[in-house]
Amino acid sequence: MPTSALFSPYSVRAVTMRNRLWVAPMCQYSVQNHDGVPTDWHLVHLGGFAKGGAGLIISEATAVSAEGRISPEDTGIYTDEQRDAWARIVKFLHSQGAVAGIQLAHAGRKASTWRPWAAERGSVPASEGGWPAVAPSAVAFTGYAVPTELDRAGIDSVVADFAAATRRSIDAGFDVLELHAAHGYLLHQFLSPLSNLRTDEYGGSLENRARLLLEVIAAVRAEAGEDAALFVRFSATDWAEGGWDQEQTAAVADLARDAGADFFDISTGGLVSGTQIPVAPGYQVPFAEFVKHASSVEVSAVGLITEARQAEEIISSGKADAVMLARGIMRDPQFPLRAAHELGIELDYWPAQYLRAQWPN
Ligand SMILES: Cc1cc2nc3c(=O)[nH]c(=O)nc-3n(C[C@H](O)[C@H](O)[C@H](O)COP(=O)(O)O)c2cc1C
Repeated sequence: MPTSALFSPYSVRAVTMRNRLWVAPMCQYSVQNHDGVPTDWHLVHLGGFAKGGAGLIISEATAVSAEGRISPEDTGIYTDEQRDAWARIVKFLHSQGAVAGIQLAHAGRKASTWRPWAAERGSVPASEGGWPAVAPSAVAFTGYAVPTELDRAGIDSVVADFAAATRRSIDAGFDVLELHAAHGYLLHQFLSPLSNLRTDEYGGSLENRARLLLEVIAAVRAEAGEDAALFVRFSATDWAEGGWDQEQTAAVADLARDAGADFFDISTGGLVSGTQIPVAPGYQVPFAEFVKHASSVEVSAVGLITEARQAEEIISSGKADAVMLARGIMRDPQFPLRAAHELGIELDYWPAQYLRAQWPN
């Protein structure tokens, strides 16, 4: 019987994933009435991955406050109604044997934008349900409105919003909380010297730029208790001169672990528009490998991982501890079941209803 690193279980604190093939967060921009409440679309979208055998499914970037939404159609976890709608989805994910994660997010200067398939581009005006964005500094992302610089009280409320969102996430049943510190959103804006021009204790040195993230981690850990797993998603490079890079990522990952984070999801980019990115199969894996070995943390890799053997090799060779899939698993929600077959692994978690479709018949 062949063995597989990809299909071996993985535990973080009290949480055990049945395999290391996980679903990356994917915004659906599909809330109705701009109320942040996940809908049946989210249940079917996320639920499909659970019946397809994924070990962990991380919800889309879910806003910790109304002003932290990327678009008016984003989900949130800042009201009890949102919490209760998430609880229904979590219950289904659990019923299929998957671990449920939520990506907690604040979009900062990239808030209040049109969803990708809208005819318009850039910031949504107030007349269409938009709102003013906040950021570490009054520096706009290309094509978006200039944000307001957060003052000290504003920073404190961001930390409090992450803590309140954590309470609701735990109450909704989520096992894994992932902080979105990547892709040019608020926490990443504080980390990168290209978007953080502050001269107070939240800007300047690496320690100062990491301060907000570390305060959020401490607040989230305090609210989450000791059992929940806390992930941080980083962009390990801005792909831009003078920006955030893999060395800073590795250094802050160590500080983040000391502050209460457990695991690091390594992506890249999103802070600066129009950068040249050498996109190719597995192109971000070397960043995950770098962070894993330059610090003493465990990591997942993401980005154009689309084949079973490719995913298996990333883990068996020690480049990363898990892989996350986004577009590939949207195309094929049963990717894990198919990957196991390709690797010659027998799984005992085919849904009973689907057993007659099991390979090799
Ligand atoms: C439709 C879509 C929505 C996404 N939304 C998010 C998100 O909410 N949070 C996030 O961190 N990344 C988001 N991403 C990025 C993915 O998580 C992933 O890192 C990226 O797509 C690369 O993986 P892939 O090559 O397997 O698609 C999104 C990607 C797609 C395609």
